[in-house]
Amino acid sequence: MQALRASVLHCLADPGEKSNPAAFEYFEDGLLVVDAGHVAEVGPTDVLLGRLPADSQVLDHTGKLIVPGFIDCHVHFPQLDIIGSYGAQLLDWLNQYAYPAEMKFADPGYARDVAHAFVDELLRNGTTTALVFGTVHAHSADAIFEAAGARGMRLVAGKVLMDSNCPDELRDDSETGYAESKALIDRWHGNGRLGYAITPRFALTSSAEQLAMAGRLAAEHPDVWIHTHLAENHDEIEEIARQFPDSRSYLDVYDQFDLLRERAVFAHCLHMDDEDRATMSKKGGAAAFCPTSNLFLGSGLFDLPAMRAAGIRCGLGTDVGGGTSLSLLATASEAYKVLHLQEHALPAMRALYLATLGAAEALYLDDKIGNFVPGKEADFTMLDFEGSPLTARRMRAAASIDEKLFALMTLADDRNVASTWILGDEAYG
Ligand code: GUN
Ligand code: ZN
Repeated sequence: MQALRASVLHCLADPGEKSNPAAFEYFEDGLLVVDAGHVAEVGPTDVLLGRLPADSQVLDHTGKLIVPGFIDCHVHFPQLDIIGSYGAQLLDWLNQYAYPAEMKFADPGYARDVAHAFVDELLRNGTTTALVFGTVHAHSADAIFEAAGARGMRLVAGKVLMDSNCPDELRDDSETGYAESKALIDRWHGNGRLGYAITPRFALTSSAEQLAMAGRLAAEHPDVWIHTHLAENHDEIEEIARQFPDSRSYLDVYDQFDLLRERAVFAHCLHMDDEDRATMSKKGGAAAFCPTSNLFLGSGLFDLPAMRAAGIRCGLGTDVGGGTSLSLLATASEAYKVLHLQEHALPAMRALYLATLGAAEALYLDDKIGNFVPGKEADFTMLDFEGSPLTARRMRAAASIDEKLFALMTLADDRNVASTWILGDEAYG
């Protein structure tokens, strides 16, 4: 039995736009008790310390803040090296930057190098779980699974399916896409903490035949994830309407091919109507809110209140390399600004929810991760309010945990992540 003493904060539900205090628990002097990699108990030190078994180890991190490990609902590991590429909206950005970067993954050794660098960056930013795009190359999925598996991380990923409107070097076809995805599911899905996501890039780069194949594969594997992009950019949406004239909407394309269901996660979801939102909610699809990408690529503003009012599961995604940071604290700060521009609020506790429990719900993993309910896996992040001179100064002017967390998410960088823990063991720090 191991206990960590620090301030401890976690969400039990969505705190909402008014930050309902019943939706989170905060223990200023708290204890997180871990047994065999899982949460045994969480609560105030004065209550829990006395009843720990005599041989328990207590690690004193007083002054730090323990939160559940961050969960990134949408990110592309092959785009790690092109973050911050200048001046293009989605379709040009893909051609100019993303596709050339992904072509380099024809080399399995290169894919492995980037995969290890990527998971190390996740941990440096306090992220313990992610839903990850590979490239079209099957070995890109092997590379990211091997890297995450070596660190004991819970991670979901897949090889991209892409057979049209893309460079020849990045093209598969329905048959090879099916065979390779199936082999990857057999090899990795449910292997330790790893899971597979069937990953059609987006409706623009898959033929109707390939989308139908992806739907069939999903039906054969009801517990694998589906991961794609949806309604990000106006030019993209126009092209898709031309390509699929019989579909009512972009979402309807996926729905017609049986790709809208529980465990289907859609990045962006910017330009949707009420009917789309009602359908997505009813079928159990989830949204990844990627504010740094949506601002950087000039794509649009995510309407969180409308999505949540429709009952859609939502979590934050960094969408690196269209997104500009792997930090979910930095991502939360941009989410606040995106909502502010639409005259909505994003209190710090709701931002924390979107990066932890809400994201776990979006991935249908909330029975395993997302908060410190006893029995869940002990993945957590230790934040340092004094990680930089400026955050240390700013904290002196913050009265409550809400104020401290909000200022931290506005100012934080990786200096404010003291350590990151996987199944109760320190994996970074
Ligand atoms: N839509 C299709 N592919 C991509 C991608 O790589 N990044 C983003 N942001 N949107 C996409
Ligand atoms: Zn993306």
